Amino acid sequence: MRTMQIKNILIATSFVVLLLGCTAHGDHTGREYAPNMYHSVAYEPLSQITDETAGRWVNSLDNGPTRGEYFNSNKYNPYRMNMREPAPHTVKRNQFGWLPYRSKKVAKDSIDFITTGMKNPLDSTAAVVAAGQVLYQSNCLHCHGVKGMGDGKVSDKFAGVANLKGDSYLGISEAHIFHVITYGAGLMGSHGSQVSPEDRWKIAKYVKVLQKQK
Ligand code: HEC
Repeated sequence: MRTMQIKNILIATSFVVLLLGCTAHGDHTGREYAPNMYHSVAYEPLSQITDETAGRWVNSLDNGPTRGEYFNSNKYNPYRMNMREPAPHTVKRNQFGWLPYRSKKVAKDSIDFITTGMKNPLDSTAAVVAAGQVLYQSNCLHCHGVKGMGDGKVSDKFAGVANLKGDSYLGISEAHIFHVITYGAGLMGSHGSQVSPEDRWKIAKYVKVLQKQK
């Protein structure tokens, strides 16, 4: 009987404690059990914990008697964050310093116009062409075929795959190919989400090499 009572009391108290944790309002995130799961002790760049006592009960740092383990704000930054937000209108560059390619799908005969002046940032080295070949084989071959003649497996079922060795395509620039991979052209859909900008430029290099092969 006694154990039943203890069990009931335990269940009731844990239920109350559970409910207490649900109160969240304003800046208060609610009661946190196992706070180490919410707050990393290492400073996270865009976080801030301005309450100096937060994490005092688990303090393993030599922060003095009052300052808690999770206090990690920086008084010089806006919102006391650990890192400053980027300046307004900052544009993210990738690891090569390239700006994002912002354009859109256009009619096939406008691609040359909007890619005028765009240059492949990669050099024509054997390694780049070889990497382009591997990428072509996994992303383009099934439609355009091993030799780029528009005779990949998909073309057995669906007509209209471009023969990249056809006269009208021999003169296209690497930027033109980059644009087509990014946004697609006519029947061909965009491959921008599958192929990174760097890989698109590698494929463009390879397609130009492929076009010259017999
Ligand atoms: C699902 C099939 C398919 C895949 C995959 C595909 N293409 Fe295409 N591609 C087409 C079709 C179909 C056309 C013809 C579009 C049209 O003329 O309406 C085309 C056209 C093109 C053109 C000519 C566009 C123009 O008119 O200027 C280029 C260049 C091209 N593809 C390159 C690539 C490259 C590079 C890849 C690999 C990243 C690739 N394609 C992957 C189906 C595909």
